[in-house]
Amino acid sequence: MHTKLRQSLIIWLINKIQKFGPHRVKVLGNTYEISENVFNPKRYYTSKLMAEHINVTSSDKILDMGTGSGVLAITAAKHAREVVAVDINPEAVHYAKKNVRARGLEKKVSVMEGDLFSPLDPEHKFDVILFTPPYFEGTPKTLFEYALIDPDKLLVKKFFGAAKKYLTPRGYVQMMYSSIADNESVLQIIHDLGWDHSLMARRRTLTETFFIYKLRPVTTLCPSSARV
Ligand SMILES: C[S@@+](CC[C@H](N)C(=O)[O-])C[C@H]1O[C@@H](n2cnc3c(N)ncnc32)[C@H](O)[C@@H]1O
Repeated sequence: MHTKLRQSLIIWLINKIQKFGPHRVKVLGNTYEISENVFNPKRYYTSKLMAEHINVTSSDKILDMGTGSGVLAITAAKHAREVVAVDINPEAVHYAKKNVRARGLEKKVSVMEGDLFSPLDPEHKFDVILFTPPYFEGTPKTLFEYALIDPDKLLVKKFFGAAKKYLTPRGYVQMMYSSIADNESVLQIIHDLGWDHSLMARRRTLTETFFIYKLRPVTTLCPSSARV
């Protein structure tokens, strides 16, 4: 099937799933409350797959960019020293804060509303930045569709244009992407912005293949300080 048609069908289906819930779901043992306007961490494969590959230590400071329900922030908080979560969707911020409070993690996890790095102090540096960007083509028509649609990969370009200055020297970005949105072309864009990648995981489903990449700025690393 033509990629554009396949993407439109998936967006239509996801909008239906979002409406009918359930709006209280369990992922890796934690319960998340959401609304129809917040990305459901149970219904789509990506949240659990990303969460399963979070590998942080007790000294790490983590940024969860585009937190949705807070699923990755809350998973990372199990081991990390501190977690900051950001989302552009005020309803996602509301539910992520609620889910953080329900786990008693408000001292460790702070949730902020804003466009990418805009709510962060430029002095903030992170050991790991978790990022599951939207990847369908189109024009977002609702607040929720910002979770799905990134026209011309503009968000990815903006993110990788800015992310270097928020990483510690040994830090990296853990990003999920899909074959349905041409993962090879997104890697080329990211390389052109001065990043290297390695593959952390790949999972094939009926509709697409998901990839988790570890990305590091090309220039700033000295090999002995890099995290493997
Ligand atoms: C695919 S969802 C992933 C949600 C969550 N990380 C998960 O794994 O379940 C992408 C999230 O990014 C958020 N987002 C989209 N554009 C953003 C931006 N410019 N700044 C911050 N967050 C954004 C969306 O609102 C949505 O919650």
